[in-house]
Amino acid sequence: MPARVLVAYGTTNGSTARIAEAIADVLNKEGLAAEVLPAPAVTEVESYDAVVVGGGLYAGRWHKHARRFVRRHRRALAGRPLWLFSSGPLDASASERDIPPVPGVRRTMTRLDAKAHITFGGCLEEGAKGRIARMIVHNGKGGDFRDFAQIEAWAARIATELADQGA
Ligand SMILES: Cc1cc2nc3c(=O)[nH]c(=O)nc-3n(C[C@H](O)[C@H](O)[C@H](O)COP(=O)(O)O)c2cc1C
Repeated sequence: MPARVLVAYGTTNGSTARIAEAIADVLNKEGLAAEVLPAPAVTEVESYDAVVVGGGLYAGRWHKHARRFVRRHRRALAGRPLWLFSSGPLDASASERDIPPVPGVRRTMTRLDAKAHITFGGCLEEGAKGRIARMIVHNGKGGDFRDFAQIEAWAARIATELADQGA
């Protein structure tokens, strides 16, 4: 039976959900059984062999749904292979260099012994929720900076690691 992998995410404007789907697509193509869910919809993680958690970045913090998810399921997560990702920067920086996790995510990595973290570029476009979001877009500072080649390459590394450990 293929290893079951949960890809859970916290999003406000949907761009992190699309990243999570791209990750799951790669994992499924690599022969794993990946399932994508918004973090609040996850009732248990015990039935999964590995977990990927991602969140949009808001004011230097992971999306609250991602934060609550790792808090609620900390025991089960600590006992499973775990990868974390963030999506945020509204420029090309995340494609050009490693952007370290924000402090809260770094603490989560340590506590749960996560295997790796990556920051992907974010996306903010017309129709985004919130006054600040609309202001950013209005001022021409929005855009789509998600690098799907980078996202897919990262997911492929997860598949390789899981295969190497016989999951
Ligand atoms: C109010 C607001 C605050 C933000 N704060 C950050 C931040 O601290 N760091 C960052 O890299 N990106 C920040 N962003 C950009 C978002 O993280 C980016 O748009 C991301 O793709 C949002 O994910 P979502 O569409 O899944 O909600 C912010 C955007 C908004 C609207």
